[in-house]
Amino acid sequence: MSVFPRNFKKEFLHVSYGEGIYLYDAEGNRYIDGASGAVSANIGYGNKEVAKAIYEQICKTSFAHGSIWDSEINEIAAQKILNISPKDFSHVWFVNAGSEATEAAIKMAHQYHLEKNNGISEKSLVIGRENGYHGSTLGTLGIGGNVNRRKLFMPMILDHPKIETHYCYRCPFNKEYPSCGIECAKKLEEKINRIGSKYISAVIAEPIIGSTAGAVVAPDGYWQEIRRICDKYDVLLIADEVMTGVGRTGKNFCVEHWDAKPDIIASAKGLAACYFPVGATLVTKKVADVFAKGSGVFAHSHTFNGMPAASAAVSAVMDFYVKNDLCGNAHKMGAIIETKYAKAVADCDFVGDFRGKGLMWGFEFVKDKKTKEPFASKDDVATKFRDYCISKGFTVYPGTGMVDGINGDNIIIAPPLIITDEQMNELFSKLLEVLSSFADIKLAKLKR
Ligand SMILES: Cc1ncc(COP(=O)(O)O)c(C=O)c1O
Repeated sequence: MSVFPRNFKKEFLHVSYGEGIYLYDAEGNRYIDGASGAVSANIGYGNKEVAKAIYEQICKTSFAHGSIWDSEINEIAAQKILNISPKDFSHVWFVNAGSEATEAAIKMAHQYHLEKNNGISEKSLVIGRENGYHGSTLGTLGIGGNVNRRKLFMPMILDHPKIETHYCYRCPFNKEYPSCGIECAKKLEEKINRIGSKYISAVIAEPIIGSTAGAVVAPDGYWQEIRRICDKYDVLLIADEVMTGVGRTGKNFCVEHWDAKPDIIASAKGLAACYFPVGATLVTKKVADVFAKGSGVFAHSHTFNGMPAASAAVSAVMDFYVKNDLCGNAHKMGAIIETKYAKAVADCDFVGDFRGKGLMWGFEFVKDKKTKEPFASKDDVATKFRDYCISKGFTVYPGTGMVDGINGDNIIIAPPLIITDEQMNELFSKLLEVLSSFADIKLAKLKR
Protein backbone atom coordinates (compact mmCIF):
# COMPACT_ATOMS: atom_id res chain seq x y z
CA MET A 1 0.00 0.00 0.00
CA SER A 2 1.49 3.33 -1.05
CA VAL A 3 -1.41 5.58 -0.14
CA PHE A 4 -1.40 6.89 3.42
CA PRO A 5 -4.94 5.74 4.22
CA ARG A 6 -7.53 7.60 6.27
CA ASN A 7 -7.35 4.68 8.65
CA PHE A 8 -4.63 2.03 8.67
CA LYS A 9 -6.95 -0.30 10.57
CA LYS A 10 -9.97 -0.16 8.33
CA GLU A 11 -10.86 -2.00 5.17
CA PHE A 12 -12.22 0.31 2.52
CA LEU A 13 -14.59 -0.49 -0.34
CA HIS A 14 -12.82 -0.33 -3.70
CA VAL A 15 -14.74 1.96 -5.99
CA SER A 16 -15.04 0.90 -9.61
CA TYR A 17 -17.34 3.53 -11.15
CA GLY A 18 -20.32 5.75 -10.50
CA GLU A 19 -23.51 6.44 -12.40
CA GLY A 20 -26.22 8.87 -11.31
CA ILE A 21 -26.89 8.40 -7.59
CA TYR A 22 -25.10 5.03 -7.49
CA LEU A 23 -21.51 3.93 -6.87
CA TYR A 24 -20.30 0.43 -7.80
CA ASP A 25 -17.54 -1.53 -6.09
CA ALA A 26 -14.94 -3.73 -7.77
CA GLU A 27 -17.24 -6.78 -7.51
CA GLY A 28 -20.04 -4.91 -9.26
CA ASN A 29 -22.16 -4.35 -6.13
CA ARG A 30 -24.32 -1.23 -6.31
CA TYR A 31 -24.64 1.33 -3.50
CA ILE A 32 -27.06 4.26 -3.35
CA ASP A 33 -25.06 7.29 -2.31
CA GLY A 34 -27.47 8.50 0.35
CA ALA A 35 -25.02 11.18 1.47
CA SER A 36 -23.60 12.44 -1.86
CA GLY A 37 -20.16 11.46 -0.55
CA ALA A 38 -19.72 14.09 2.13
CA VAL A 39 -22.85 16.02 1.07
CA SER A 40 -20.88 17.09 -1.98
CA ALA A 41 -21.48 14.95 -5.10
CA ASN A 42 -24.60 17.00 -5.77
CA ILE A 43 -25.17 16.10 -9.44
CA GLY A 44 -24.32 12.43 -9.01
CA TYR A 45 -21.61 10.48 -10.78
CA GLY A 46 -20.47 9.94 -14.36
CA ASN A 47 -21.86 13.16 -15.80
CA LYS A 48 -20.53 13.23 -19.37
CA GLU A 49 -21.45 16.88 -20.07
CA VAL A 50 -19.30 18.03 -17.20
CA ALA A 51 -16.47 15.62 -18.05
CA LYS A 52 -16.47 16.86 -21.66
CA ALA A 53 -16.33 20.52 -20.61
CA ILE A 54 -13.36 19.86 -18.32
CA TYR A 55 -11.59 17.79 -20.98
CA GLU A 56 -12.05 20.51 -23.60
CA GLN A 57 -10.70 23.18 -21.26
CA ILE A 58 -7.68 21.05 -20.33
CA CYS A 59 -6.95 20.56 -24.04
CA LYS A 60 -6.82 24.37 -24.34
CA THR A 61 -5.03 24.91 -21.03
CA SER A 62 -5.60 23.50 -17.58
CA PHE A 63 -3.69 26.25 -15.85
CA ALA A 64 -2.35 29.77 -16.19
CA HIS A 65 -0.96 31.29 -13.04
CA GLY A 66 -3.23 33.89 -11.48
CA SER A 67 -0.43 36.34 -10.69
CA ILE A 68 -0.12 37.00 -14.44
CA TRP A 69 -3.19 35.64 -16.16
CA ASP A 70 -6.91 35.82 -15.95
CA SER A 71 -9.15 33.81 -18.25
CA GLU A 72 -12.51 33.97 -19.90
CA ILE A 73 -13.63 30.69 -18.30
CA ASN A 74 -12.91 32.04 -14.79
CA GLU A 75 -15.06 35.06 -15.48
CA ILE A 76 -17.84 32.85 -16.89
CA ALA A 77 -17.74 30.55 -13.85
CA ALA A 78 -17.78 33.48 -11.41
CA GLN A 79 -20.71 35.06 -13.24
CA LYS A 80 -22.69 31.83 -13.14
CA ILE A 81 -22.11 31.56 -9.39
CA LEU A 82 -23.22 35.16 -8.88
CA ASN A 83 -26.33 34.46 -10.97
CA ILE A 84 -27.52 32.06 -8.27
CA SER A 85 -26.20 34.10 -5.30
CA PRO A 86 -28.14 36.58 -3.13
CA LYS A 87 -28.36 39.93 -4.86
CA ASP A 88 -25.77 41.94 -2.94
CA PHE A 89 -22.95 39.59 -3.93
CA SER A 90 -20.56 41.00 -6.52
CA HIS A 91 -17.30 39.01 -6.54
CA VAL A 92 -16.01 35.44 -6.29
CA TRP A 93 -12.62 34.50 -4.80
CA PHE A 94 -11.80 31.00 -6.06
CA VAL A 95 -10.10 28.40 -3.86
CA ASN A 96 -9.80 24.61 -3.87
CA ALA A 97 -11.86 23.37 -0.93
CA GLY A 98 -14.30 24.25 1.82
CA SER A 99 -11.60 24.78 4.45
CA GLU A 100 -9.84 27.16 2.09
CA ALA A 101 -13.08 29.06 1.47
CA THR A 102 -13.71 29.64 5.18
CA GLU A 103 -10.06 30.37 5.92
CA ALA A 104 -10.00 32.95 3.10
CA ALA A 105 -13.25 34.39 4.52
CA ILE A 106 -11.83 35.02 8.00
CA LYS A 107 -8.59 36.46 6.64
CA MET A 108 -10.58 38.64 4.29
CA ALA A 109 -12.71 39.88 7.20
CA HIS A 110 -9.60 40.83 9.14
CA GLN A 111 -8.02 42.60 6.19
CA TYR A 112 -11.34 44.32 5.41
CA HIS A 113 -11.18 46.14 8.75
CA LEU A 114 -7.54 47.05 8.19
CA GLU A 115 -8.28 48.39 4.70
CA LYS A 116 -11.22 50.38 6.00
CA ASN A 117 -9.23 51.98 8.78
CA ASN A 118 -5.98 52.90 7.04
CA GLY A 119 -4.14 49.86 8.33
CA ILE A 120 -5.09 50.40 11.95
CA SER A 121 -7.54 47.88 13.36
CA GLU A 122 -7.50 45.36 16.17
CA LYS A 123 -10.50 43.53 14.76
CA SER A 124 -9.09 40.04 14.29
CA LEU A 125 -11.17 37.65 16.41
CA VAL A 126 -13.93 35.64 14.78
CA ILE A 127 -16.87 34.46 16.85
CA GLY A 128 -17.78 30.87 15.96
CA ARG A 129 -20.17 28.38 17.55
CA GLU A 130 -19.63 25.38 19.79
CA ASN A 131 -21.10 22.84 17.38
CA GLY A 132 -19.84 24.53 14.24
CA TYR A 133 -17.49 22.97 11.71
CA HIS A 134 -15.65 25.13 9.22
CA GLY A 135 -12.75 22.99 8.09
CA SER A 136 -9.69 21.11 9.21
CA THR A 137 -6.84 23.55 8.62
CA LEU A 138 -5.36 24.99 11.79
CA GLY A 139 -7.00 28.35 11.11
CA THR A 140 -10.47 26.92 10.59
CA LEU A 141 -10.19 24.49 13.53
CA GLY A 142 -9.83 27.61 15.68
CA ILE A 143 -13.25 28.93 14.66
CA GLY A 144 -15.06 25.56 14.82
CA GLY A 145 -16.09 23.45 17.77
CA ASN A 146 -15.78 19.88 16.52
CA VAL A 147 -13.98 18.32 19.48
CA ASN A 148 -12.89 15.16 17.66
CA ARG A 149 -11.20 17.16 14.96
CA ARG A 150 -9.64 19.63 17.40
CA LYS A 151 -8.50 17.73 20.45
CA LEU A 152 -5.18 16.32 19.18
CA PHE A 153 -4.15 19.65 17.75
CA MET A 154 -5.24 22.04 20.51
CA PRO A 155 -1.70 23.26 21.28
CA MET A 156 -1.34 24.31 17.64
CA ILE A 157 -4.70 26.06 17.33
CA LEU A 158 -5.36 29.77 17.74
CA ASP A 159 -8.69 29.39 19.44
CA HIS A 160 -11.39 31.97 18.73
CA PRO A 161 -14.36 32.73 21.00
CA LYS A 162 -17.58 30.76 20.58
CA ILE A 163 -21.23 30.92 21.49
CA GLU A 164 -23.69 28.05 21.81
CA THR A 165 -25.38 26.97 18.60
CA HIS A 166 -29.12 27.05 18.10
CA TYR A 167 -30.27 23.51 18.89
CA CYS A 168 -33.96 23.52 19.71
CA TYR A 169 -34.16 19.76 20.37
CA ARG A 170 -31.59 20.16 23.16
CA CYS A 171 -31.82 23.86 23.90
CA PRO A 172 -28.61 24.89 25.70
CA PHE A 173 -30.72 27.33 27.74
CA ASN A 174 -33.53 24.84 28.50
CA LYS A 175 -36.04 27.07 26.77
CA GLU A 176 -38.60 26.57 24.05
CA TYR A 177 -38.99 28.34 20.76
CA PRO A 178 -40.49 30.93 20.27
CA SER A 179 -40.94 31.97 23.92
CA CYS A 180 -37.13 31.72 24.28
CA GLY A 181 -36.82 34.98 22.33
CA ILE A 182 -33.99 33.26 20.43
CA GLU A 183 -31.63 33.55 23.36
CA CYS A 184 -28.96 31.62 21.44
CA ALA A 185 -28.70 34.53 19.00
CA LYS A 186 -28.90 37.19 21.73
CA LYS A 187 -25.86 35.61 23.42
CA LEU A 188 -23.81 36.92 20.52
CA GLU A 189 -24.27 40.46 21.74
CA GLU A 190 -23.22 39.49 25.25
CA LYS A 191 -20.12 37.75 23.87
CA ILE A 192 -19.14 40.76 21.76
CA ASN A 193 -19.52 43.07 24.74
CA ARG A 194 -17.55 40.80 27.04
CA ILE A 195 -14.60 40.75 24.66
CA GLY A 196 -14.94 44.24 23.23
CA SER A 197 -16.27 44.87 19.74
CA LYS A 198 -13.04 46.55 18.73
CA TYR A 199 -11.44 43.09 18.66
CA ILE A 200 -14.16 41.26 16.71
CA SER A 201 -13.86 41.11 12.93
CA ALA A 202 -16.57 38.59 12.04
CA VAL A 203 -19.10 36.00 13.08
CA ILE A 204 -19.20 32.70 11.23
CA ALA A 205 -22.10 30.24 11.21
CA GLU A 206 -23.57 27.40 9.16
CA PRO A 207 -27.23 28.14 8.32
CA ILE A 208 -28.04 24.46 8.90
CA ILE A 209 -25.43 22.84 11.10
CA GLY A 210 -23.96 19.95 9.16
CA SER A 211 -21.35 17.43 10.15
CA THR A 212 -21.06 18.35 13.84
CA ALA A 213 -24.75 18.25 14.68
CA GLY A 214 -26.64 16.41 11.93
CA ALA A 215 -28.70 18.96 9.98
CA VAL A 216 -29.86 21.20 12.82
CA VAL A 217 -31.96 23.98 11.25
CA ALA A 218 -31.83 27.56 12.53
CA PRO A 219 -35.10 28.78 14.06
CA ASP A 220 -36.91 31.59 12.22
CA GLY A 221 -35.54 34.93 13.32
CA TYR A 222 -32.09 33.63 14.28
CA TRP A 223 -30.25 34.99 11.27
CA GLN A 224 -32.05 38.34 11.41
CA GLU A 225 -30.99 38.73 15.02
CA ILE A 226 -27.32 37.94 14.41
CA ARG A 227 -27.37 40.28 11.40
CA ARG A 228 -28.76 43.06 13.61
CA ILE A 229 -26.04 42.50 16.19
CA CYS A 230 -23.25 42.37 13.60
CA ASP A 231 -24.42 45.68 12.12
CA LYS A 232 -24.53 47.30 15.55
CA TYR A 233 -20.90 46.42 16.29
CA ASP A 234 -19.35 46.73 12.80
CA VAL A 235 -18.76 42.98 12.58
CA LEU A 236 -18.91 41.07 9.28
CA LEU A 237 -21.30 38.13 9.01
CA ILE A 238 -19.93 35.03 7.26
CA ALA A 239 -22.35 32.28 6.24
CA ASP A 240 -20.54 28.98 5.90
CA GLU A 241 -22.52 27.41 3.07
CA VAL A 242 -19.86 24.87 2.14
CA MET A 243 -22.37 22.10 2.77
CA THR A 244 -25.71 23.92 2.47
CA GLY A 245 -25.01 25.97 -0.66
CA VAL A 246 -25.88 25.42 -4.32
CA GLY A 247 -29.40 24.10 -3.90
CA ARG A 248 -28.80 21.50 -1.21
CA THR A 249 -31.59 22.80 1.05
CA GLY A 250 -34.04 23.81 -1.67
CA LYS A 251 -32.76 27.37 -2.10
CA ASN A 252 -29.66 28.31 -4.07
CA PHE A 253 -28.09 29.40 -0.79
CA CYS A 254 -29.61 28.33 2.50
CA VAL A 255 -29.59 31.82 4.08
CA GLU A 256 -32.31 32.72 1.59
CA HIS A 257 -34.80 30.65 3.62
CA TRP A 258 -34.69 33.50 6.12
CA ASP A 259 -33.79 36.32 3.78
CA ALA A 260 -30.65 36.68 5.89
CA LYS A 261 -27.98 39.00 4.58
CA PRO A 262 -24.42 37.76 5.14
CA ASP A 263 -21.47 39.86 3.95
CA ILE A 264 -19.45 36.83 2.88
CA ILE A 265 -20.48 33.31 1.87
CA ALA A 266 -18.05 30.39 1.94
CA SER A 267 -19.04 27.82 -0.66
CA ALA A 268 -17.44 24.63 -1.99
CA LYS A 269 -18.85 21.12 -2.25
CA GLY A 270 -21.76 21.67 -4.67
CA LEU A 271 -19.97 24.27 -6.81
CA ALA A 272 -18.15 21.73 -8.93
CA ALA A 273 -20.01 18.84 -7.29
CA CYS A 274 -16.86 16.69 -6.91
CA TYR A 275 -15.86 16.90 -10.58
CA PHE A 276 -12.98 19.15 -9.48
CA PRO A 277 -11.83 20.31 -6.05
CA VAL A 278 -13.26 23.84 -6.00
CA GLY A 279 -14.32 26.26 -3.31
CA ALA A 280 -15.14 29.93 -3.41
CA THR A 281 -15.44 32.86 -1.05
CA LEU A 282 -18.28 35.03 -2.29
CA VAL A 283 -18.28 38.66 -1.25
CA THR A 284 -20.76 41.49 -1.29
CA LYS A 285 -20.02 44.77 -3.02
CA LYS A 286 -19.63 46.35 0.42
CA VAL A 287 -16.61 44.11 1.10
CA ALA A 288 -15.15 44.15 -2.41
CA ASP A 289 -15.31 47.96 -2.59
CA VAL A 290 -13.18 48.31 0.52
CA PHE A 291 -10.42 46.24 -1.10
CA ALA A 292 -10.81 47.97 -4.45
CA LYS A 293 -10.55 51.42 -2.90
CA GLY A 294 -7.84 50.34 -0.45
CA SER A 295 -4.65 48.47 -1.24
CA GLY A 296 -6.36 46.56 -4.07
CA VAL A 297 -4.75 43.30 -2.98
CA PHE A 298 -6.09 40.49 -0.79
CA ALA A 299 -2.86 39.28 0.85
CA HIS A 300 -3.67 35.61 0.38
CA SER A 301 -3.42 33.09 -2.47
CA HIS A 302 -2.71 29.49 -3.45
CA THR A 303 -1.02 28.22 -6.60
CA PHE A 304 -4.22 26.56 -7.80
CA ASN A 305 -6.66 29.46 -7.13
CA GLY A 306 -8.91 29.85 -10.14
CA MET A 307 -7.45 27.20 -12.43
CA PRO A 308 -9.22 27.35 -15.82
CA ALA A 309 -9.84 23.58 -15.65
CA ALA A 310 -11.58 24.01 -12.30
CA SER A 311 -13.64 26.89 -13.64
CA ALA A 312 -14.71 24.75 -16.60
CA ALA A 313 -16.03 22.24 -14.07
CA VAL A 314 -17.91 24.95 -12.16
CA SER A 315 -19.34 26.41 -15.36
CA ALA A 316 -20.60 23.04 -16.60
CA VAL A 317 -21.98 22.03 -13.20
CA MET A 318 -23.81 25.37 -12.93
CA ASP A 319 -25.33 24.83 -16.39
CA PHE A 320 -26.50 21.35 -15.45
CA TYR A 321 -27.81 22.57 -12.10
CA VAL A 322 -29.84 25.40 -13.62
CA LYS A 323 -31.05 23.50 -16.72
CA ASN A 324 -32.37 20.62 -14.60
CA ASP A 325 -33.70 22.85 -11.82
CA LEU A 326 -31.88 20.82 -9.18
CA CYS A 327 -32.68 23.43 -6.57
CA GLY A 328 -36.38 22.96 -7.35
CA ASN A 329 -35.93 19.21 -7.16
CA ALA A 330 -34.28 19.50 -3.73
CA HIS A 331 -37.22 21.59 -2.56
CA LYS A 332 -39.74 19.11 -3.97
CA MET A 333 -37.92 16.10 -2.50
CA GLY A 334 -37.70 17.88 0.86
CA ALA A 335 -41.48 18.18 0.88
CA ILE A 336 -41.77 14.48 0.03
CA ILE A 337 -39.42 13.56 2.90
CA GLU A 338 -41.47 15.70 5.25
CA THR A 339 -44.85 14.29 4.29
CA LYS A 340 -44.01 10.70 3.40
CA TYR A 341 -41.03 9.54 5.46
CA ALA A 342 -40.29 11.92 8.35
CA LYS A 343 -42.80 10.46 10.79
CA ALA A 344 -41.75 6.89 10.06
CA VAL A 345 -38.08 7.74 10.71
CA ALA A 346 -38.84 9.80 13.81
CA ASP A 347 -41.03 7.00 15.20
CA CYS A 348 -38.23 4.43 15.04
CA ASP A 349 -36.78 3.16 18.28
CA PHE A 350 -33.63 5.07 19.21
CA VAL A 351 -34.35 8.01 16.88
CA GLY A 352 -34.51 11.18 18.93
CA ASP A 353 -35.17 13.83 16.34
CA PHE A 354 -35.41 14.01 12.55
CA ARG A 355 -34.88 17.45 11.04
CA GLY A 356 -33.74 19.16 7.88
CA LYS A 357 -34.67 21.01 4.73
CA GLY A 358 -34.61 20.17 1.04
CA LEU A 359 -32.18 17.29 0.59
CA MET A 360 -30.25 17.77 3.83
CA TRP A 361 -31.78 15.79 6.69
CA GLY A 362 -30.41 14.33 9.88
CA PHE A 363 -31.48 12.32 12.87
CA GLU A 364 -29.86 11.52 16.15
CA PHE A 365 -29.77 8.35 18.17
CA VAL A 366 -30.99 8.33 21.77
CA LYS A 367 -31.10 5.54 24.32
CA ASP A 368 -34.39 6.82 25.60
CA LYS A 369 -36.76 9.02 23.62
CA LYS A 370 -38.12 10.71 26.76
CA THR A 371 -34.87 11.63 28.51
CA LYS A 372 -33.00 12.11 25.19
CA GLU A 373 -30.00 10.42 26.74
CA PRO A 374 -27.40 9.76 24.05
CA PHE A 375 -25.38 6.57 23.66
CA ALA A 376 -21.88 6.66 25.09
CA SER A 377 -19.28 7.76 22.56
CA LYS A 378 -17.33 4.51 23.05
CA ASP A 379 -20.30 2.59 21.60
CA ASP A 380 -19.58 4.23 18.25
CA VAL A 381 -23.21 3.98 17.24
CA ALA A 382 -23.14 6.37 14.27
CA THR A 383 -20.19 4.62 12.61
CA LYS A 384 -21.67 1.19 13.26
CA PHE A 385 -24.94 2.34 11.75
CA ARG A 386 -23.16 3.71 8.67
CA ASP A 387 -21.32 0.41 8.22
CA TYR A 388 -24.54 -1.52 8.58
CA CYS A 389 -26.18 0.67 5.92
CA ILE A 390 -23.26 -0.05 3.59
CA SER A 391 -23.79 -3.77 4.07
CA LYS A 392 -27.38 -3.19 2.88
CA GLY A 393 -26.33 -1.28 -0.22
CA PHE A 394 -26.45 2.40 0.65
CA THR A 395 -24.34 5.05 2.36
CA VAL A 396 -25.16 7.72 4.94
CA TYR A 397 -22.99 10.35 6.67
CA PRO A 398 -22.27 9.79 10.38
CA GLY A 399 -21.38 12.48 12.91
CA THR A 400 -20.76 12.59 16.63
CA GLY A 401 -20.39 14.86 19.63
CA MET A 402 -23.30 17.27 19.24
CA VAL A 403 -24.62 16.80 22.80
CA ASP A 404 -21.56 17.95 24.75
CA GLY A 405 -18.66 17.82 22.32
CA ILE A 406 -18.03 14.13 23.02
CA ASN A 407 -21.35 12.27 23.17
CA GLY A 408 -24.15 12.16 20.64
CA ASP A 409 -24.48 10.23 17.39
CA ASN A 410 -26.14 11.60 14.30
CA ILE A 411 -26.68 10.54 10.73
CA ILE A 412 -27.10 12.84 7.74
CA ILE A 413 -29.21 11.76 4.77
CA ALA A 414 -28.38 13.90 1.75
CA PRO A 415 -28.60 12.13 -1.60
CA PRO A 416 -27.57 13.82 -4.88
CA LEU A 417 -29.95 16.57 -5.99
CA ILE A 418 -30.80 14.56 -9.14
CA ILE A 419 -32.65 11.92 -7.11
CA THR A 420 -36.10 10.85 -8.41
CA ASP A 421 -39.28 9.87 -6.54
CA GLU A 422 -38.66 6.16 -7.09
CA GLN A 423 -35.05 6.41 -5.96
CA MET A 424 -36.16 8.25 -2.82
CA ASN A 425 -38.56 5.44 -2.16
CA GLU A 426 -35.74 2.93 -2.57
CA LEU A 427 -33.44 4.92 -0.26
CA PHE A 428 -36.00 5.44 2.49
CA SER A 429 -37.32 1.87 2.32
CA LYS A 430 -33.78 0.65 2.88
CA LEU A 431 -33.18 3.21 5.63
CA LEU A 432 -36.34 2.28 7.51
CA GLU A 433 -35.55 -1.40 7.16
CA VAL A 434 -32.05 -0.87 8.55
CA LEU A 435 -33.33 1.36 11.34
CA SER A 436 -35.69 -1.34 12.54
CA SER A 437 -33.29 -4.27 12.19
CA PHE A 438 -30.28 -2.31 13.44
CA ALA A 439 -32.22 -1.49 16.56
CA ASP A 440 -32.87 -5.19 17.16
CA ILE A 441 -29.47 -6.47 16.22
CA LYS A 442 -26.92 -3.87 17.20
CA LEU A 443 -28.50 -1.47 19.67
CA ALA A 444 -30.68 -3.65 21.85
CA LYS A 445 -27.86 -4.60 24.16
CA LEU A 446 -26.86 -0.98 24.61
CA LYS A 447 -30.30 0.02 25.86
CA ARG A 448 -30.71 0.35 29.57
C1 LIG B 1 -19.85 23.65 6.81
C2 LIG B 1 -18.50 23.18 6.35
N1 LIG B 1 -17.50 24.06 6.26
C3 LIG B 1 -16.27 23.69 5.84
C4 LIG B 1 -15.99 22.39 5.51
C5 LIG B 1 -14.62 21.99 5.04
O1 LIG B 1 -14.65 21.66 3.69
P1 LIG B 1 -13.48 20.76 3.06
O2 LIG B 1 -13.64 19.41 3.64
O3 LIG B 1 -13.78 20.80 1.58
O4 LIG B 1 -12.20 21.40 3.39
C6 LIG B 1 -17.00 21.44 5.58
C7 LIG B 1 -16.74 20.02 5.25
O5 LIG B 1 -17.50 19.15 5.51
C8 LIG B 1 -18.28 21.83 6.02
O6 LIG B 1 -19.30 20.97 6.13
